[in-house]
Amino acid sequence: MNIKTTLYRANILHFPVATLTPDTQAVMFDDGALVVANQKIIALGHYNDISRQYSKVNTVDYRGRLLVPGLIDSHLHYPQTEMIAQYGKQLLAWLQNYTFPTENKFESVEYCEHIANIFIRQLIDNGTTTALAFSTVHKQSVDALFTAASSLNMSFVTGKVCMDRHCPEYLQDTPASAQSDSDELIARWHGKGRNLYALTPRFAPTSSSAQLAALSELAQQYPDVFVQTHLSENAHEVEWVRSLYPEHSSYLDVYANFNMVRKRAVFGHCLHLSEDEWSQLAESGATAAFCPTSNLFLGSGLFDIQAAKRHQVNIALATDVGAGTTFNMLRTYGEAYKVSQLKHAPISPLEGLYMMTQGPAQAYDLADSIGNLNPGTYADFIILDPHFNSLSQLRIKQLNNASDILFALSLIGDDRAIEATYIAGNQQKISMEKSHVLA
Ligand code: GUN
Ligand code: ZN
Repeated sequence: MNIKTTLYRANILHFPVATLTPDTQAVMFDDGALVVANQKIIALGHYNDISRQYSKVNTVDYRGRLLVPGLIDSHLHYPQTEMIAQYGKQLLAWLQNYTFPTENKFESVEYCEHIANIFIRQLIDNGTTTALAFSTVHKQSVDALFTAASSLNMSFVTGKVCMDRHCPEYLQDTPASAQSDSDELIARWHGKGRNLYALTPRFAPTSSSAQLAALSELAQQYPDVFVQTHLSENAHEVEWVRSLYPEHSSYLDVYANFNMVRKRAVFGHCLHLSEDEWSQLAESGATAAFCPTSNLFLGSGLFDIQAAKRHQVNIALATDVGAGTTFNMLRTYGEAYKVSQLKHAPISPLEGLYMMTQGPAQAYDLADSIGNLNPGTYADFIILDPHFNSLSQLRIKQLNNASDILFALSLIGDDRAIEATYIAGNQQKISMEKSHVLA
């Protein structure tokens, strides 16, 4: 069989191993080469060395551009794509007034498919190649999203939202239906191609303890299935959980009681945690998803990066669209940087890149397939163009290292800075400007 092999020449940056100190563990090739065959990366190194080994293969020249692993968005909501940037409310009123009515539309299979395709396109345009996304309570919303992701052979995680109270009746399931529907979806999608399933109780206020107990059975039955939910986002929400679950010592303890605090459990927000909750998160191997644009937009609070680092909790950056205000993970890092400045612990550009690539890949036990550019992993990578507009051109002239360039693109960049997105070796984004040149 004739396997097509391609060499990509660029300035290359990634983290080959797990680390607590990304600033010293990044590997950079100023004139690098990445070789791809049969969906996977087969070689990485200096162009001079690699091009000698692969002298006969097709070469794509991205000199002057930065090649990094495809980005991982660890928490967002695909049904909320159309309600991004909705003015005026904090979490609980925002859910009631805007979110629940929007999610009701996903009763329709056609609507699920329509929004799933728009959502996947937004991810790709912004350089995100893996996402952990919430669907709605409807099974068909999960089917539509996995189907759209599978058509591009994307590595993808989603799950049916489970909620049986404190939301409109038209969105409520039951303990039994949440369990049987989730079980059916696990059988259909988990481990099929690059898809992985996530048990998805929306958050403790919308699940009765009977429902969490039903999901706990699945969590124990399927130890490699993800769990995704919300934790300690808004002060009123935290109070509410205390009154709904008075027998539990903390908000996190509610989830722990139902076997949901573990590796591959991803908790959105984590803004108002006690020291004990941080320790419990760390010990369990679970992940805190830091969603800065959402936290600022809903006025929820500032993520305590010092506490998260002190406890060595896995931290993943995430957009949380539609409370988050951008699909762009680099912009999301830019906002995380501003929040961390207010917390007197600025997150460096390399730490930021780690929190959207190798960091979450390691936390989810997926680093043998995503999150880095090691040979053997899937060829999910993106090309960043530091010269995408006149301001960036002016700014980039003053900079000479990848970390500073990444930083500038995170503050002044947008989707135009993502020149190309490759998923399993196939180019899924060609920037408008370049496609004109090619045409
Ligand atoms: N808490 C429960 N549901 C949601 C949601 O959809 N978005 C956010 N930001 N927080 C939540
Ligand atoms: Zn969320």
